[in-house]
Amino acid sequence: MHKLFDLYFVSSNPHKYKEAKNILDSFGIKLGFLKLDLEEIQSTSLKDIAEKKAKDAFSKSKKPIIIEDDGLFIDSLNGFPGPYSSYVFKTIGNKGILKLVSSKRKAKFVSIITYCDKKTLESFDAKLDGIISKSQKGKGWGYDPIFIPKNSRKTFAEIENKNKLSHRFKALKKFSNWYLHKLESSGR
Ligand code: IMP
Repeated sequence: MHKLFDLYFVSSNPHKYKEAKNILDSFGIKLGFLKLDLEEIQSTSLKDIAEKKAKDAFSKSKKPIIIEDDGLFIDSLNGFPGPYSSYVFKTIGNKGILKLVSSKRKAKFVSIITYCDKKTLESFDAKLDGIISKSQKGKGWGYDPIFIPKNSRKTFAEIENKNKLSHRFKALKKFSNWYLHKLESSGR
């Protein structure tokens, strides 16, 4: 099993790190944490935002890093809040979202994981379909209390296996396959 100490998750969000660490542990990758405030450009493309953040994180840390950018996209609101999910959570929060959503409740979470080192910039994306609940349920961070993943009756905040099915899990799984292969081919 690979035990690596030279990959860092750069974020200001400890919840994301805790989940990413748990997920990457299960793939044999050890993940450190660097708490840094990163430049966040305004863009409608999560990938552009993630890649700019990753370059900024590498230039500040000088270590191989991954960063994550996410968005919650609600169908009946034409994908809102999408790339503005963080700002919308801070301003209107889950209560505000519940007021905006009508009878059509389909939504998806998207995660982009971007890896950056001296030579490489690579992104991995994944989505998870679900619906917005009618009220907040369970105690979780961010949008967890209002997002019900497909094939479940419980919100992310209520289920025990979030880290086995989330948007974060799916994107990190793609990243792990690529990263372990990269290490093997560089002889590490
Ligand atoms: P950002 O990638 O930090 O900009 O995050 C976008 C927004 O989505 C933030 O408000 C996060 O709290 C929220 N978010 C991202 N992933 C999750 C999750 O797994 N559960 C709940 N909220 C999330």
